[in-house]
Formats: sequence, structure tokens, C-alpha cells
Amino acid sequence: MASISIYDDLPTEPDAILEQIFDIAGRQGNLVRLYHQLRNVAPIHRSRIERLGRPWVVTRHSDAAWVARQKGLIKDGRLVDQLGGDPNSFFVTVMKRMMNFMPAPRHTRLRHLINDGFSQRTVERLRPGVRTLVHELIDARLADGQMNLVRDFAYQVPLAMISELIGVPFEETHLIEAWSSEVLASVDEGALVTPEMEHRRDEAMSGFSEYFQSLIDARRTSPRDDLISRLVEVQRDASDLTDDDIIATSILLFQAGHDTTTSLIAKGMFALLQHPTELAKLRARPDLIRNATEELLRFDTAVQLSINYAVEDMAYHSRTIRTGDAVLILRGAANRDPERFSDPDRLDLERKDIEHHSFGLGAHFCLGASLARLEIQEAIGALVERIPNMQVDPEKVVFRPSLHLHGIDALPVTW
Ligand code: HEM
Repeated sequence: MASISIYDDLPTEPDAILEQIFDIAGRQGNLVRLYHQLRNVAPIHRSRIERLGRPWVVTRHSDAAWVARQKGLIKDGRLVDQLGGDPNSFFVTVMKRMMNFMPAPRHTRLRHLINDGFSQRTVERLRPGVRTLVHELIDARLADGQMNLVRDFAYQVPLAMISELIGVPFEETHLIEAWSSEVLASVDEGALVTPEMEHRRDEAMSGFSEYFQSLIDARRTSPRDDLISRLVEVQRDASDLTDDDIIATSILLFQAGHDTTTSLIAKGMFALLQHPTELAKLRARPDLIRNATEELLRFDTAVQLSINYAVEDMAYHSRTIRTGDAVLILRGAANRDPERFSDPDRLDLERKDIEHHSFGLGAHFCLGASLARLEIQEAIGALVERIPNMQVDPEKVVFRPSLHLHGIDALPVTW
């Protein structure tokens, strides 16, 4: 079985490794090696770091799958409380109405209401529209010989698609962009919760909520073919679906639906630019794009952290996880586990059987996975085809400090 040896230049004590993983400067350029080190010395580790809630930390692919699928390990409002600040604030109240911070049966109910709109069959109908959009975006920049691939391209694709699905008119998206970035900044695991920051995140959530309330009111009188209209329709016969639930669901979809996919398109293209042989392979064989997308998702994912809580005592690999314990999955580590993926640090667009953890597994499996896959396939496929001589200077790339939403803020490219 493949293995990775212990690195002499990195700490070997598990909590010291974790401290370095959670430190922006400490993990710089070393994140994957730190993941390997932790998996090697303590694959199932009970951390003593108070700041992180003393979680169990899992880094192996198989353990991450076990955690995600265990009925006794759930997600709930504690995930929001962990962000810090006033537990009764408006921000916290809205966040706690989102399905990703809820256990069954309420989670199941909310998810059931919107599942169909994001099934593979439904989103496949969007493919021609996505294709047209990515080509238009490239046409608009082609003669310039340069662009910021995040802002000018990657960001525009999921933003347009999720707005259309929810029912936000595209010309109004700029209204919610500022609230959206504020909410994103608030879920950063390193964010310092000051009174000023709490004020800003409450303001952002109020702006967001008032906007979606006005959209609900408008669709109630004149429905269209969008998610808000469908939920308003469901509401007529369902006493358990309030306007506040529709608002929280819309905010969640807007947030989850654009930032992560933007990151993946940008990080995926960046990875290809750094692996010219793989890039050339994809250019020669565009039919590889679906498998390439899975490999890019595995190679460098956008959501690195996931926490579940135990609601019962359970034995696992001669440890006892007790009721109330937090269990943290490091997704990037599971995706590079040499027991699951041979030569895991190699980008291999032809790799077989890529069951990565980038969309999670189990009850909370990413609702937008089919949509995200389609957007990445179309966006990266078109870039590779249309701009064959694209170049990047890695020194100019601006990485986002967050580990939770691990993205690129600026990717200047030339051709
Ligand atoms: C490449 C892009 C994306 C990545 C990497 C990603 C990743 C994830 C991950 C890791 C989870 C949590 C799974 C868990 O905890 O087990 C999740 C949940 C979720 N994602 Fe995505 N996502 C992406 C795109 C999208 C899109 C486009 C949408 C919009 C429809 C979306 C909507 C959601 C929702 C609503 C949840 C919560 C599901 C639940 O709690 O049941 N995601 N996503």
C-alpha cells in the first residue's frame, strides 16, 4: 500500500500540526504536506485545542466517509454559535433557519422542497445557456489579451445561473453582492467577532432579508418560472413553510451557489496552468472534461472544513466518541489520502474512480453538485478551447486567507 513518509521539517505532535493548519502564515505553501503529516501521525485525533471546540479530527478518506454517513453525527445550530457573537442576533437567527445547520426531520423536509430543482436531469437543461454565457464572457475579453479570471469570468458564471434559478433578476445582483461578501467574511473560521463586525453582519443579513421579502411579495402576485415562485406556491398548502424559511433558503442558495463554484473554476484553471502536460491532454481530448472536473475537484477543493456533532456515544476504531463531541473532517486531507488514491498529489485527468469528498457525503451532500459540475465543465472546457496560450504568473495570484471557503480572490492571466 502506498504511503507518505513523515516530514522532518514539520511538527509531529498532532495539535502542533493542527495549529499550523489553522494558521494562515503557518500553512502557506504547506497545507497538503501538513494534511499528510497529521494523517500519518494521528488519523483519528482528539484535539485539545479549545478554540476549535476540542474536536475529533479525521483525515483519512474512509473515516471522513464514516463521519458523513453516521446517523448519530449531525449538523445543527451549534455550527452557527461557533462563529461567535450574540446568539440572539438577527444574523444568527437567519443562519439557523438554513438547512445546512439543521438535523432531520426539519432538514429532510426543507431539502425535499427544493431537491427537484437541482437534480441532474433538471440542471442539464441549463447547459446550452451556460455554454452561451461562457463563450460571451470569453468573446468580451479575447481581444484584451488579459483578464482577472476570477472577477471577469469565473465569478460571472455561477452568479448568473444561481440568480436565474432563484429568481433574482440579473440586473439586481449588484444590490446583493455587498451583503453577500459580508456574510461570506463572517463565516471565515479566522474572523474576529468584534461589535463592529457583528453590526455589519446584522446589517448585511437585514439587507438580504428585506430584498428577498420583496421578491416573495412580488412573486405572490405574479409568479414566474423560478424557485421563489415555486416555494410561494408550496406555502399555500404548507403551514410549516414561512416567508422567513423561504428567505433563509434563498440566501443559503445564493451564497452556496456562487462562491464555491467561482473558486473551483479559478482553482481548477490555475491547477491546469501549472500542469501543462495535463492541460495539453485536455486540449487534445475535450471529451476528458467530465473526468477532469472530478479530478480538479479532488485536487484542490473549495470547502475544506466540515463539523458534525455526536448525539449519542459511539465506538469507532477503539475510540469512544461521546455525546456532544464535535468531529471535524479535513476534506482536502481525505481527498489526498494515499490509501484511497494512488500517487495522490499528482494531477491526473484520466484518474479512474474519483470518489472525492469535495461535495460531502450522506444527508447533507451538496445540493448543487450537478449544477456546479456542469458549470465547471462548461467554463473550463471553453477556456481551454478558446485561449490556448493562456499564462499565469503565480506570484500575482491572490489567495483567500480562509480555510473554510478556500478560494482565490484574484487570478490575473494573459495570452
Ligand atoms: C464546486 C462548487 C461547490 C462545492 C465544492 C460545494 C461543496 C459543498 C459541501 C462540501 C457541502 C456540505 C456537505 C456536507 O456537509 O456533507 C455543500 C452543501 C450544500 N451546497 Fe454545495 N458546493 C458547491 C456548489 C454548490 C452550488 C452551485 C449550490 C447551489 C445550488 C450549492 C448548494 C449547497 C447547499 C444548499 C448545501 C447544503 C445541503 C444540506 O445541508 O443538505 N452548492 N456544498
